[in-house]
Amino acid sequence: MLSSGAKAAVFVSVLSLSGVVGIETSVAFTSSGVSTASAAQPSSSASAAFIPDAASRVNLFVGTTNGGHVFPGATIPQGMVKVGMDTDSPGNHAGYDADPIFNVTGFSQLHDDGTGGAVPLSLFKLFPFAKCGKGNTFEECQTSIAGRKTLRKVLEDGTPDDAAEPGYFASNLSTGIRVELTSTRRAALHRYTFPSGIKFPRIVVDITNDGQQSSTDPIMDLDEKTARVTGGARFAGSFGPGRYSAFTCVDFKGDGYDLGAPTEFGAWLGNFPVKQTVTITQLYTSFTDELGALFTFNPNAHGRTSILARVGVSLISPEQACANAEQEIPDFGFEKVRAASRAQWSELLGRVQVDPKGVDSEIVDLFYSSMYRTHLSPADYTGENPLWNSTEPYYDSFYCNWDTYRTLFPFMALHDPATFARIVRGMINIQQHEGWLPECRGATVKQFIQGGSNGDPILAEFLVKFQEQADALSVPADALYTALLADAELQSQNWDLQGRQANIWKTLGYIPQDVFERSGTNSKQVSRTLEYAFDDFTISQVAKVLGKTSDGQKYAQRSENFNNVWNPNTTFPGRKDIAGFMQPRFANGKFNFTDPRHCSIHDPRHATCFLNAQNHDGFYEGSPIVYTQYVPHDTAKLIELQGGTDSFVQRLNFIFDEGYFDSTDEPSQQIPFMYHYANKPGLSTQRSRQVIAEFYNTSTNGLPGNDDSGAMGSYVAFYLAGLYPLPATKQFLLSSPYFPEISFRNPVLNTTTTIRANGFKGNPSDGTGGHVFVKNVTIDGQPWKSNCFIEWDAFTNGSLVELQLTDDIDVSCGAGADALPPSLSTGGYD
Ligand SMILES: *[C@@H]1O[C@H](CO)[C@@H](O)[C@H](O)[C@H]1NC(C)=O
Ligand SMILES: *[C@@H]1O[C@H](CO)[C@@H](O)[C@H](O)[C@H]1NC(C)=O
Ligand SMILES: *[C@@H]1O[C@H](CO)[C@@H](O)[C@H](O)[C@H]1NC(C)=O
Ligand SMILES: *[C@@H]1O[C@H](CO)[C@@H](O)[C@H](O)[C@H]1NC(C)=O
Ligand SMILES: *[C@@H]1O[C@H](CO)[C@@H](O)[C@H](O)[C@H]1NC(C)=O
Ligand SMILES: *[C@@H]1O[C@H](CO)[C@@H](O)[C@H](O)[C@H]1NC(C)=O
Ligand SMILES: *[C@@H]1O[C@H](CO)[C@@H](O)[C@H](O)[C@H]1NC(C)=O
Ligand SMILES: *[C@@H]1O[C@H](CO)[C@@H](O)[C@H](O)[C@H]1NC(C)=O
Ligand SMILES: *[C@@H]1O[C@H](CO)[C@@H](O)[C@H](O)[C@H]1NC(C)=O
Repeated sequence: MLSSGAKAAVFVSVLSLSGVVGIETSVAFTSSGVSTASAAQPSSSASAAFIPDAASRVNLFVGTTNGGHVFPGATIPQGMVKVGMDTDSPGNHAGYDADPIFNVTGFSQLHDDGTGGAVPLSLFKLFPFAKCGKGNTFEECQTSIAGRKTLRKVLEDGTPDDAAEPGYFASNLSTGIRVELTSTRRAALHRYTFPSGIKFPRIVVDITNDGQQSSTDPIMDLDEKTARVTGGARFAGSFGPGRYSAFTCVDFKGDGYDLGAPTEFGAWLGNFPVKQTVTITQLYTSFTDELGALFTFNPNAHGRTSILARVGVSLISPEQACANAEQEIPDFGFEKVRAASRAQWSELLGRVQVDPKGVDSEIVDLFYSSMYRTHLSPADYTGENPLWNSTEPYYDSFYCNWDTYRTLFPFMALHDPATFARIVRGMINIQQHEGWLPECRGATVKQFIQGGSNGDPILAEFLVKFQEQADALSVPADALYTALLADAELQSQNWDLQGRQANIWKTLGYIPQDVFERSGTNSKQVSRTLEYAFDDFTISQVAKVLGKTSDGQKYAQRSENFNNVWNPNTTFPGRKDIAGFMQPRFANGKFNFTDPRHCSIHDPRHATCFLNAQNHDGFYEGSPIVYTQYVPHDTAKLIELQGGTDSFVQRLNFIFDEGYFDSTDEPSQQIPFMYHYANKPGLSTQRSRQVIAEFYNTSTNGLPGNDDSGAMGSYVAFYLAGLYPLPATKQFLLSSPYFPEISFRNPVLNTTTTIRANGFKGNPSDGTGGHVFVKNVTIDGQPWKSNCFIEWDAFTNGSLVELQLTDDIDVSCGAGADALPPSLSTGGYD
């Protein structure tokens, strides 16, 4: 066993790589000209922009190799269209891979960020040809995916010649063609700049090749005069059984010259373009499902040949795809669209300001890059819901709520409640039409639930924090509560896609391992029990703020059901002193046994706990030893079950020192902060900082696993802010930020809340030690009761939260009875 000190010594020192040269000085000062206040000054000075353009600090390539599946292309915040490069890499879930050995297969319009499952979306690829075959003829163009594969230009440092910033993506292909992409909500604008002297600039429109090459029922027509292409097909969902339809509309325009009519045109099938055909029904489409359109355009006789392609997308019809494009990008103004997208990002990201003085510049970049990814999903598909008509917003790409409820929505609550409200309205509207909240959803397709009914904590997070603003934000509190009750009370007939196994939950108070109910794989019973318990806690919180006292008590009581899968007699193999685990249980009350190491890196059976036919052991994406810590609403009870604070702390240490902490999956996310509940917040500060140092950085492999639709991004952003949220409560666990000051501007509350770290001396590069431990807190100049948490009213008030830092890790939450963060069994939450 490594001691925690020995473990720390093997941490890779990420930050020291960029070293002293990376240390920043403030680029802007508060009105007083002093950025790190030494004197307590009970007024918020946070309106100063320390980072004049926060969007300039976003590195879009973080996590674009090594399984991060991050989307680095162009989009607006929560944009439906996410236009980007697709490569032929194995893990191209977001289209792209930063490794230049992989070929480019096209530039498609829709993507998700950081998902698993089968490759989602990646629809409607465009691709430019500089030359086709020896003769450079139309017929020689290799139009299929395999045929058109092209490498990127590689720079001297071995990286591909790709560039990206919020709202813009560019790449130079080995063919000498430069590709640039930007977008609006439902339309993309591509610019293809061909090598000088090009005679036959050609562009392929690919209608059928989504990321899974799953299309059926393709349609396509092209206009020989204008080169407009309309089409669509049906495609497979990514993480579930359903299929969806999608449509596109592509128009071309010369950039700075009159393109005229295409000089050659035709539909293509596989590698066979057929001149003069205008619709795929003229081709023998049953021979291959790869098809689209190909054009040869006039070059620019007076300069560089640059061709704009405007691509509208719709889930309703090709006509609506055209209308979307015409409405959102009427004049093909590339720089205008790009600037508008960038302005949205700059405003949004600028709501959170960090003082970079004395902070390694990589940390500033890591913060804004992580925050950026919290605004990719869910995506605003309003107007594109083919299932029913509604005037409510429609959001999609919930992939999945189990990933994002913990940190993404709580982060959004801090600076973007207006978007949060629209997402919640859209979720309620889905529940009203389908009977259940969306859980895991992509392109209107219901996908597999990972945990419980994890829409509940999202809705509850909104209402607990914004009850007073709900009316003004058009969120119907009654309908929200009704949606929660559907999850809590009604048996879903397909509970692996929506809702819960509610009946047995209500009668037994846990999900038994040996009861097979129709429709739904009988798996992950223990982790679902824990998730249902937390979901019910969040419902109890909503009931409380709505004044439904008896409901509040009922669901609070049900949230204690985690006790029902606690087996005090299960011990860790070889460690009788580590006793008590969450375990699978039969309907008759007897326990089964799952090795606490199950599906960890030390599992002797090397089992996984993903969704698969072999997974009957009760747990999903987390080993029993991790899930045994997962009761966010009642950690005090966990401490009691685990034999008191000393053995609780020992168990936390064991999890880290023996490698059971799993930074790639969400159930581990809270664990570094759990020392708070044992009154040892210094250990939380150190563990959370060690986790950042070891696993998160701004390189292309800077994520340990999938970004999970921004779940990892928001988690990193919280850690760097020195906060960790408890969804659906008014409390945030408190540590020290990586900055002398961080502020959150909340446009709905019209407040700016500042956390200032007095005595900030920089961040230890490996996360160990340092002058980073919180020894005292004041809020608006008044002593605050705890060093371990702050309340939501600090954000509604727009407070100045001042931390006093020390290098003594042995700090405490404070002496008072209410200094420890709340737990349900020790008085509960206000
Ligand atoms: C990229 O395409 C080239 C040419 O088609 C091919 O030789 C090469 O193997 C491809 N690379 C990969 C990684 O598939
Ligand atoms: C591509 O090449 C152009 C010059 O033709 C250059 O300006 C640009 O920086 C290169 N890289 C990218 C990603 O656009
Ligand atoms: C929505 O309304 C449009 C226009 O009235 C109609 O064509 C369409 O069928 C409706 N869609 C659904 C799913 O009801
Ligand atoms: C645990 O062991 C004790 C002592 O043998 C026994 O009384 C108790 O019933 C056991 N509990 C469970 C849940 O098996
Ligand atoms: C009990 O657990 C074992 C080990 O995980 C498993 O193989 C078995 O199927 C479980 N029993 C039942 C009835 O689910
Ligand atoms: C960046 O993070 C990744 C993923 O956790 C890790 O594998 C890699 O070693 C880190 N890189 C550096 C330079 O620390
Ligand atoms: C927001 O607050 C500022 C000062 O804190 C005030 O001047 C402004 O009127 C407020 N705006 C709204 C819409 O309440
Ligand atoms: C927020 O303001 C209210 C009303 O002025 C006050 O009672 C409360 O203590 C403040 N909260 C904090 C955290 O300062
Ligand atoms: C912080 O310091 C103040 C003033 O010394 C003291 O009143 C307060 O109790 C301290 N707070 C905690 C949580 O220790």
